[in-house]
This record gives sequence, structure tokens and C-alpha cells, in this order.
Amino acid sequence: MKTPIIIDTDPGHDDALAIMFAVKSGIFDIKAITTVAGNSTIENTTRNARYILKLLNREDIPVYSGSAKPLVRELIKAVVHGESGLEGIDPKNESNLTNDAVDKIIKIVKENKDITLVTLGPLTNIARAIEKDKEAMKRVKQIVIMGGAIKVPGNKNRVAEFNIFVDPDAANIVFNFPIKKFLVPLDACNNVQLQLEDFEKLKGTNLFEPIVAMMKPYIQNIFKDEGIKAALMYDPLTVYYLFNPSVCNVKEYDIKIETKGELTRGMTVAELRNSQKDYNISVIETINGESFKKDFINTLRKYH
Ligand code: BDR
Ligand code: CA
Repeated sequence: MKTPIIIDTDPGHDDALAIMFAVKSGIFDIKAITTVAGNSTIENTTRNARYILKLLNREDIPVYSGSAKPLVRELIKAVVHGESGLEGIDPKNESNLTNDAVDKIIKIVKENKDITLVTLGPLTNIARAIEKDKEAMKRVKQIVIMGGAIKVPGNKNRVAEFNIFVDPDAANIVFNFPIKKFLVPLDACNNVQLQLEDFEKLKGTNLFEPIVAMMKPYIQNIFKDEGIKAALMYDPLTVYYLFNPSVCNVKEYDIKIETKGELTRGMTVAELRNSQKDYNISVIETINGESFKKDFINTLRKYH
């Protein structure tokens, strides 16, 4: 049986690749894609999600737009994805905002057993759904979250990863909510780096041209912003954990979110001392990069 999932996302170059990977893998029953402001505005992230589904010829998958800004703060957009969120292809289609992601998440979770939530952006929509209907959200089987920096520096400030930094208040609600949680942090993602040559292997597929057009500015922007000359695969790796958990190392952690600090806004504060721990989340500490690359490229090459 296919795994029923909702993908909550803010595309974003790596979100776009993650959606492609999830769709092409054929192992998921994607009930909906819900969008959130993060890498870019809600208009842009929703437009981009629709564009990617069109490329995949899967416009039958519903897209529901959600939060235009974090729970209590102003939106701080990302740098590496450009103004449109998908620099390099800059989609021009309609966004068709529906403004009902939170209600749709609750509805899908109520109507289906064992939903897995895969979150690739700030956790605003999920936190709102929890606030609105706790009992319904307790039915969620598990949530797999791209976010956090446990033992490595942040990518947004010294200690925080972008998705958690943008809406720490939402992350705090989700981290405290009693459902099974998995976290794919920067620790697992930083070492998995793809180059343009890796995407050359997609030649002959209809995804080749748009992916190369997107990856060129993505790689340049990451180089300018972070000094790494590669395409980082945060969001595809998060989907990959569900695809092939056997190449991932997972450890239980007790993690709290910094919602007040000035220098530490959005820090995923792990209890690393030898004290009594109150485990609340399973952290994917490492993912085998070679397995990922092979499976990722082979999956994107597939025709369905
Ligand atoms: C996360 O932030 C976004 O820019 C990416 O899409 C990813 O979800 C990485 O920190
Ligand atoms: Ca993202």
C-alpha cells in the first residue's frame, strides 16, 4: 500500500526537487500539497507548487494555499531561491490561492487513517492546524520535518536553520505536540552536495531542462551566501528518509525551540548533557549521500 502523505512546502528549489522525487517515487499517495510562506511569499510558493505539478503532469494532486506569514512575526524570506522562489525558471502561471490549507490538513487527517505529514518549510500551517483541532491532529501517524541544526552551525543565524528561524513560535507548538516526530536537520544534509554534472544524468527526460535552469542560480546563490559550491538537498533528503530509512542513522533527542533569544532565535536546543532526558523527537543524524544520489537520479529518470 502507498504511504498516504501531505506535503507542506514553500517551493523553493530544493522543495521543487523534493516534490518531483515524491511524485516520481510512486510509493506515496499524495493527498495534498499545502503551501506556506517561507522561501518566498505565499503567492510565489503556491504558484511554484502548481508549476512543478504541471511539469510532472500531476495537476490532479490538489494544492491548498496556507499562511502568508509566521504566527506572530513578519516573514523573512530566503536569499538563495531568488525573488520568485524558483530563480532560473521564475514561473508565471496563476497562484490561485485557496487560503484553506489549515482546514484541508485537518479534514484529510480526520478522513484518513495514518497520515504522514512531510514538512519542507516553516511550520506555520501545522501549528495552526494543531491550535484549531488538537484531537484531529493527534490522529497523525507521524510528522517528518526538514529543519533544525543540532550539532552544526545554523544557516540563517549562528545557530538556527531557516525553517525553524522563520517561525520559531510555530515550531515550538509542533515540537511540544504529542505525535511521533522525525527531524531531518542540517547535520544530515550539509554533506550531501550535488553538482550540475549530477543532473546531466537526467538528459532525455522532460525534467532535465527546467532542473538545470533552476540549479544554475541555486548553486551560484548558495556559493555567494554560504561559500559552498553545490546544490544542497535539504528537502529531497527529508522525503528520502521515508523512501529508504535503512541508509539513515536515527537517534532520540530532547529538543526545545528558542523563541525568545535575540542571537539565538529559532535555535533547536538539544539536551546534550548526561542528564535525565525527556525525548520528544527522533533525529536523522546521517543519511548516506551516495545512496541518496543514486536513488534520487534514478527515480527522477522514471516515467510513469
Ligand atoms: C530549508 O530552508 C529553505 O531555504 C529550504 O527550502 C529548506 O527547506 C533549509 O534550511
Ligand atoms: Ca523548503
